[in-house]
Amino acid sequence: MIFDRIKPLDAILATAEKKSLHRSLGAFQLTMLGVGAVIGTGIFVLTAAAAQKAGPGMMFSFVIAGFVCAVAALCYSELASMVPVSGSAYTYTYAVMGELLAWMVGWALILEYAVAASAVCVGWSGYVMGLVENLTGFTLPGALSSGPAWGFAGGIPSVDFSHGVVNLPAIIVAAVVTWLLVIGTSESASVNAVLVAIKVTALTAFIVLSFPILKGENFSPLMPTGLLGHDGLGVVGAAATIFFAYVGFDAVSTAAEETKNPQRNVPIGLLGSLAICTVFYFLVAAGVVGTVGAQPVRDAAGAVLPPDGAGFAARCAELAALGQAPIVCSDEALAETLRIIGFPVIGNLVGLAASIALPSVILMMIYGQTRIFFVMARDGLLPERLADVHPKFKTPWKMTIFTGICVAIAAAFFPVGQLADISNSGTLFAFFMVAIAVMMLRRTDPDRFRPFRTPLVWVIAPIAALGCLGLYLNLPFVAQMVLPVWGAIGLLIYVFYSRKRSHVGLGLIEVHEEDSDVPPTAMPPI
Ligand code: ALA
Repeated sequence: MIFDRIKPLDAILATAEKKSLHRSLGAFQLTMLGVGAVIGTGIFVLTAAAAQKAGPGMMFSFVIAGFVCAVAALCYSELASMVPVSGSAYTYTYAVMGELLAWMVGWALILEYAVAASAVCVGWSGYVMGLVENLTGFTLPGALSSGPAWGFAGGIPSVDFSHGVVNLPAIIVAAVVTWLLVIGTSESASVNAVLVAIKVTALTAFIVLSFPILKGENFSPLMPTGLLGHDGLGVVGAAATIFFAYVGFDAVSTAAEETKNPQRNVPIGLLGSLAICTVFYFLVAAGVVGTVGAQPVRDAAGAVLPPDGAGFAARCAELAALGQAPIVCSDEALAETLRIIGFPVIGNLVGLAASIALPSVILMMIYGQTRIFFVMARDGLLPERLADVHPKFKTPWKMTIFTGICVAIAAAFFPVGQLADISNSGTLFAFFMVAIAVMMLRRTDPDRFRPFRTPLVWVIAPIAALGCLGLYLNLPFVAQMVLPVWGAIGLLIYVFYSRKRSHVGLGLIEVHEEDSDVPPTAMPPI
């Protein structure tokens, strides 16, 4: 039987009880934690890719993605408040659907966290380079400031180096953040609060400056690529990309162990941060559309080009040479919009805000990745040596450096939109499994105390599962394919390595050595 290895919920909860983590986070801090983890490359950078996919209709994409996240968050909240331990979707799945599926979810979470970190590194690179160029006139050659364009024609992957070779700034930020994590840097709640304030101020300034000059004609045609376009185009396709802008809210549930009264505060933190972000995102998207227009770039035949492809990069270069580059071509859409509408200084300040704040999202993502690896290694599914703690810094340095190298390589050679789409495919899978797990647990363990119950679970959980599936099916083909290929690799590792070493499989359910319960860093996550 392959679904036979279930980690009993009581054992998971007993493990949580034994932990010595200080429960210090309240509802407000958790909401700030969520907003801090969520606002990032999605709104600052991917707004351009979303506009290329859906035109002005991308405003609705933010709402669709926010809605799917909200229903998924309601499912998350039930499990997070009921099983307030580390490991997020991985742990929930272990308790409900067994080790194999938990492994697959943990494996998919690598896409969520590590690839998302790479995407944010690339987003950061675009903002920093734009800022440097505007302030000093210095431009790094394209070959060193962006990765190549990848394509997939007729089943054969192709790579085009004419507009970029390697993204050096993205490698540098990945290396610096990794080093900070190795030496044990972790943001304190107060640093997080400052960064949240910077991001929220930047978005608020954008909305306040753009709204008085919105032009009705910029909203037409509203949906130039329709609702459901092909290969990731259309309003729903843009929602599948923009879903990335909400990734990270589950960091709140991952922090459940460090939360006071998690039963009440985790759901508030999840839904509160999501609501705040959705409102900001919609207003910012409307500001971009209404001021500078957001019609997609087309090829000579009039067909809309998918963003991130070689054709799109070439067309944008042509338009830039003519001095007509539209906002969909920008690597720093919000700062550029403000410069175009006559606020160059504020545009640069928004660029500065993104440059300061995005590394904290990278830190959060790499930290989240090491936390998932840590829990999986503690369960025996990954080499336990990977979780070795550095004698001086007291951090899981091997795991952190390994993660940092992978993040830097992906950031060096892939465009931000493609990385975001790949990350989304893993995240959507994990959220899909959580929605299923909530329903299964209601059936298999109906009497267990649920501090937070998903309202109308038999409506909300299926909508969450279908919503995740729907967005996944509207990702570009390549991003869709990454999930099964990645899953197949994970399955092989499970069968040939992890299954034999699993603690549950060896009957070691509750045994945790003293130091294996130490979290990866001594402080709570940002
Ligand atoms: N939601 C995060 C961002 O947009 C990952 O950068």
